[in-house]
Amino acid sequence: MYRKKLRNPKQHRDGQGAVENLKCQISYSRSSVFAELPRCSLLRHPLTVKALLDRLRSNSPVLVLLCVLGMILAAANFQAQAPEQAPSQTNRYQYRSQHERDGIGKFYMGREIAQVMTYHGANWLDRPERQKEEDSDQLIEFLAVKPGEIIADMGAGTGYFSIPLAQLVGPHGRVLAVDIQQEMLDILKAQMKERGVSNVDLILGNATDPHLPDKAVDLVLMVDVYHEFSHPWEMMQKICEALKPGGRVALVEYRAEDPSVPIKRLHKMTEGQVMKEMAEHPLFWQETINILPRQHVIIFQQSTVPQ
Ligand SMILES: C[S@@+](CC[C@H](N)C(=O)[O-])C[C@H]1O[C@@H](n2cnc3c(N)ncnc32)[C@H](O)[C@@H]1O
Repeated sequence: MYRKKLRNPKQHRDGQGAVENLKCQISYSRSSVFAELPRCSLLRHPLTVKALLDRLRSNSPVLVLLCVLGMILAAANFQAQAPEQAPSQTNRYQYRSQHERDGIGKFYMGREIAQVMTYHGANWLDRPERQKEEDSDQLIEFLAVKPGEIIADMGAGTGYFSIPLAQLVGPHGRVLAVDIQQEMLDILKAQMKERGVSNVDLILGNATDPHLPDKAVDLVLMVDVYHEFSHPWEMMQKICEALKPGGRVALVEYRAEDPSVPIKRLHKMTEGQVMKEMAEHPLFWQETINILPRQHVIIFQQSTVPQ
């Protein structure tokens, strides 16, 4: 029982609890010398460290040394464990110091969240072979976008999808291109100018809020983005709030079920994992399209039933 308490960082924020536990552990192991110590429970009459040391000193200097060493080890153990065990307010996320290289050490529903792809790699998003590798034209066709619609391109990057979508929704529709990196939005702005596109709004979001208008969006598209959200639950809540009644979410991720897809593990997701994570939100699954070369397209619709 005492060992358990020692490992609970909440009860040992000031280290005092660790000392008390140590006293009690010693009392159990050397009960002949410290017969009265089991009575000095943390809950009743805690002894001060000084009082404990005085009693120990009168019995054996070696024990004093052992006691001090024990306290140092207990404090070090507490410090090493605290960051790993500190849960978020709701325990929604877990943190581990040992994790994959491309991950952030934060886990959600058993999945490690991937590092954000920085704007330094922006050229990769516009690589000429991308159309062949991913059949992006086919993906856009699946989305069945209609003129006049409002589309949010979440994690728009350089606008690889924002620009063709803006052309499809036409002058009466809009694309809300959201990213957390201003540098990506700057590249997209330059592309819009070059291609004469004016119906894309550039929105700088943050880790928990995409800054989308409420109940305004027909379709939220996320291509190769969701696995990078550092706060997936919070982001999805906001995304659901931004959907019009009956609005859709299209989650496009590299297929983790397929080892031949040449993408780093944390940047892929299984359909099962996506389903598990989306079940937390007011959405229902509509369809999964599995015929693109590398990605699955998983479409959800806003559920009118409150959860
Ligand atoms: C791999 S890129 C994909 C870009 C684009 N969707 C495409 O397919 O070309 C991922 C993008 O998501 C953005 N991102 C990551 N977390 C985000 C968040 N919480 N909100 C908005 N954008 C985010 C990154 O900054 C990056 O530009």
